[in-house]
Amino acid sequence: MLSENISRDPDGTLRFAGHSVTELAARYGTPLYLFDEERIRANCRMYKEAFRKHFGPGSLPLYASKAASFKEMYRIMADEGMGVDAVSAGEIHTALAAGFPAERIMFHGDGKTDEDIIYALEAGVGRFVVDNPEELEILNREALKRGMKQDVLLRITPGIDPHTYAEVNTGSVDVKFGMPILTGQAADFVRAALNCPGIGLKGYHIHVGSQVFDEDVFERAADVMTDFIAEMRDRFGYAAEEMNFGGGYGVRYVDSDPPVDIPARIGEVAARLKSDMKKAGLSSLRVFMEPGRSIVADAGMTVYTVSTVKHIPGFKNYVTTDGGMTDNPRFCLYRARYTVLHGSRETAEKDRFDLVGRCCESGDILQKNVSLPADIRRGDIVCVCTTGAYNYSMASNYNRLGRPPVVMLTKDGSRIAVRRETAEDLCALDV
Ligand code: LLP
Repeated sequence: MLSENISRDPDGTLRFAGHSVTELAARYGTPLYLFDEERIRANCRMYKEAFRKHFGPGSLPLYASKAASFKEMYRIMADEGMGVDAVSAGEIHTALAAGFPAERIMFHGDGKTDEDIIYALEAGVGRFVVDNPEELEILNREALKRGMKQDVLLRITPGIDPHTYAEVNTGSVDVKFGMPILTGQAADFVRAALNCPGIGLKGYHIHVGSQVFDEDVFERAADVMTDFIAEMRDRFGYAAEEMNFGGGYGVRYVDSDPPVDIPARIGEVAARLKSDMKKAGLSSLRVFMEPGRSIVADAGMTVYTVSTVKHIPGFKNYVTTDGGMTDNPRFCLYRARYTVLHGSRETAEKDRFDLVGRCCESGDILQKNVSLPADIRRGDIVCVCTTGAYNYSMASNYNRLGRPPVVMLTKDGSRIAVRRETAEDLCALDV
């Protein structure tokens, strides 16, 4: 199986985190998002342990909460001692409503509004990751108005190509995020920040991309950023104390995706950073990383009920589910690959199907050309694996479909973390 939390009984029953998916489907209805809480916690602990081993005091992994943002997730992150990366007032609000400590939140985004800035400032978030000079100016003005000095990291574009899909490449020079080193804008940005009395400059942030398998991306990033830190020290007498390397480690969606040994990779980045810093005559740094996908992706599975099976002889077969692009737009957006499993049987005779959704458009595809039992029929359960990251958080109400509930699975049982959206909910904002 793709991941150790997925298994199949001899009678064909599929289990996720030890639970029968057909039983969960009967209990909670479908479509249904499942989360394996133990897996989320184990992923957090893997990062925490690697950080403890390899980076200095004050270093911290932050969960990139855009991957899956709801109160229960922030409670787990608080409990595991993680930090959190938030990208909107909405994510900050959800984190605070869940009791997550404001000082462990880093506030990101290239398009923060004045309202966002004021909200986060007053909420007391630990760090702003300032994307651009306009934001810097507004943050400085609002901090001074309140007699505050806000700690910040500056978002720098390092000019590194992570070799992932274009929509999530954020390290190259011409992306919309941050200020590039290559053009000299990053240095101007640092100078500007040092001249702002309402800003406490702590260091820099980069994020090169997501679903990254390149072995040495973070090492190259360490080289580039150490050079930059040293250059800023030489030019402005400012030596950064903190460096945030962003997120990005890839996860396995299909058997052919290679496993990433994250603790080993972190060890290599730490070793490289140490030697780079020594060469540049720099002392220690507090290091942050912001994993999203690698914390929650393999902790998720989506469960659907088959509504239609259609054979178009000589052309194609379709399995239509009761969900679709509304609960998982990732195939539509990125041609993302997934492993699809039948919920209750594995027959010798298989056929190929496009697994599609119930929305009124032909592009509503969950996955093309998947192998499923040839006798699959209406009422069967099908599961899409590794849907913990960027599925619930990117869900929509297209066609006025309610979003599925989120159910947390533990060894002892299951509980609703987000309830199913009802028809009433869908009209709640309408006047
Ligand atoms: N930090 C920053 C500043 C980011 O922009 C991101 C992801 C992360 C951390 C977390 O990266 P991760 O560890 O999850 O790779 N919707 C896309 C993914 C967009 C990622 C955006 N930024 C998808 O479904 O593949």
